Amino acid sequence: MSTAPVLALRGISKRFGAVQALTDVELEIHPGEVVALVGDNGAGKSTLVKAIAGVGPADEGTIEWDGKPVQVHRPHDAQTLGIATVYQDLALCDNLDVVGNLFLGAELRRGSILDEVEMERRSLELLSTLSIRIPSVRIPVAALSGGQRQTVAIARSLLGEPKVVILDEPTAALGVEQTAQVLDLVERLRERGLGVILISHNMAEVKAVSDRVAVLRLGRNNGTFEVATTSQEEIVSAITGATDNAVTRRTSRIEDATPEVEK
Ligand SMILES: Nc1ncnc2c1ncn2[C@@H]1O[C@H](COP(=O)(O)OP(=O)(O)OP(=O)(O)O)[C@@H](O)[C@H]1O
Ligand SMILES: [Mg+2]
Repeated sequence: MSTAPVLALRGISKRFGAVQALTDVELEIHPGEVVALVGDNGAGKSTLVKAIAGVGPADEGTIEWDGKPVQVHRPHDAQTLGIATVYQDLALCDNLDVVGNLFLGAELRRGSILDEVEMERRSLELLSTLSIRIPSVRIPVAALSGGQRQTVAIARSLLGEPKVVILDEPTAALGVEQTAQVLDLVERLRERGLGVILISHNMAEVKAVSDRVAVLRLGRNNGTFEVATTSQEEIVSAITGATDNAVTRRTSRIEDATPEVEK
């Protein structure tokens, strides 16, 4: 990557009582890049996301934004910087329509009354720039498919014009068709120059949509891989610890494959 990272984590550690959930974790996100964050159950993915989002600040380490150290102690700090997080439990209001959900807690007003016309106009504009197809923005979100609901939740996170979007297992509950819809949207976020952190347990999906994969194992980095040049098996080995040091093994494999004259 030639550009500088928009977000960088340096030496992040976090402990819950006797459990060392994160140890010295490093992660960089560049503009226009999708980084998959993978690892077994309990590897520390959600804990890391909570540290970035200001929901559960780290004990040690530094968060850098545009190359400068910043303090992220509360969700508001993360939002102000331009970090948006879409959690797995979507937190949409079933009985509200799409416009109501998009502007929930950030309603537009004219004087003391809600400006429904302007909110609807902006909703249609936002969905159309993201090529999100929804039958109507005036139906309750309960009537939408799981994939459509997920795209609404992601669209909502974009209203604050973030530079980095964190998606915690956005396709975990979705079928094939709906997953494709969400992955299309992830690609559109990248086209718009956003940095995306995608948590996923689905290797096919990780391979399909991300540029790099960062593996966490037992709360530590266990390799970062360029997706284009890495097999699914290598990523899985790093996740399970079949190779205790995936980085070393990978490096030696590349050296083995290099013709003698170039060594
Ligand atoms: N609030 C908490 N109190 C105590 N321990 C916690 C807490 N949150 C997480 N942990 C522990 O920290 C470790 C990392 O958990 P975390 O939820 O970050 O894993 P994860 O990678 O998100 O797993 P999953 O894929 O299952 O979502 C686990 O051992 C977990 O039990
Ligand atoms: Mg988790």
